[in-house]
Amino acid sequence: MIPDYKKLVIYYYTGTGNALKAGQWMLDEAKNNGLNAEMRSISKKHRTYEIDHSKDDLIGFLFPTHGFSLVPAMLFFLFRFPRLKSTVFFMNTRAGGMFFKWFTPGLSGVALLLPMLIMKLKGFKIAGARPMDMPSNWISVHPGLGPKMVGKIAIRCEKITRKFYHNLINGKKPFRRMLIDIPIDLAIFPISLGYFFVGRFMLAKTFVYSSKCVECGLCAKKCPVQAIKIKNGKPFWTYNCESCMRCMNICPENAIEASHLLFAICLVLFTMVPFAWLFYSNYEVFSFLNNYYIEFLFNTFAMIFLFIFLYFIIHPLFRFKWFNAIFRYTSLTNYWRRYRAPGVNAKDLN
Ligand SMILES: Cc1cc2nc3c(=O)[nH]c(=O)nc-3n(C[C@H](O)[C@H](O)[C@H](O)COP(=O)(O)O)c2cc1C
Repeated sequence: MIPDYKKLVIYYYTGTGNALKAGQWMLDEAKNNGLNAEMRSISKKHRTYEIDHSKDDLIGFLFPTHGFSLVPAMLFFLFRFPRLKSTVFFMNTRAGGMFFKWFTPGLSGVALLLPMLIMKLKGFKIAGARPMDMPSNWISVHPGLGPKMVGKIAIRCEKITRKFYHNLINGKKPFRRMLIDIPIDLAIFPISLGYFFVGRFMLAKTFVYSSKCVECGLCAKKCPVQAIKIKNGKPFWTYNCESCMRCMNICPENAIEASHLLFAICLVLFTMVPFAWLFYSNYEVFSFLNNYYIEFLFNTFAMIFLFIFLYFIIHPLFRFKWFNAIFRYTSLTNYWRRYRAPGVNAKDLN
């Protein structure tokens, strides 16, 4: 039976515009079909208790995949979302790429399974779910894709997204693409837990400003989770940072780097001094570490603590030109191309 939706509302979170772009394609299709449609960017301050939808509304959730899961801002938003009678769908944008002429997919992990479970338990009907392999934006681990490749991937994604929309509207329950991935998605689930509880906090502490920073404050103003504080005119990344890459990609001066040196220092310090001494010494006071699980937890918290501690020490030192230069020139991002979804400008990112 073809459902008779009266309105389409898309809630989205985006770092560099991929999820926004996918939502815009759907909105465009909806408008062409004469369906009332709108997009709403989510935030921590969203008064979710004020959200209301009728049972004839189709509600979409669009978000990037981070660490084989959905971005935490969207996860917490879904938890706070009121129980309603509407129908929902999900789309996670992933790290798409190309190998010669073949399109390569990203990996969802639990990015679709988890929100589907949450909303099912809340009593929503689920109309469909699909991963979308938009150009990868993970600039701290690889250079931004070239414009030609970005263009080809975007054209493919646009076609698929528009088709997905029509399948939803026609009640065709488009789940097939996500179902194919389920075995591998479940296999990498432990990694998504590791990223959620540990990895994302460490990544948040590798962002640094370089001497090119002109103190415009755009990074702080545009941060989707208000994670950047300005201290003495310069950006300071707090723990709320979700490493979405927006700041790095919209900075007009390219003055934000992911410091690979800082990451390396933290890892070396962690493994060599003084934690190694704590773990492997025979001091009775540390005998509780003999338990594998306790040792693992201790390790984890020690690592996070080290990252915060080092970041606090290092941040004020960036004011010294020579110090700043060391970190800038040892950051691979200093040499890499940046990424923003095609056709998306800084002003489009709320
Ligand atoms: C910190 C971080 C983690 C990511 N983790 C994954 C991942 O686990 N799987 C994947 O396919 N893509 C991953 N990506 C890539 C993004 O999900 C992908 O580029 C997405 O399209 C970005 O959407 P946005 O521009 O709306 O933020 C990651 C990107 C970042 C910045």
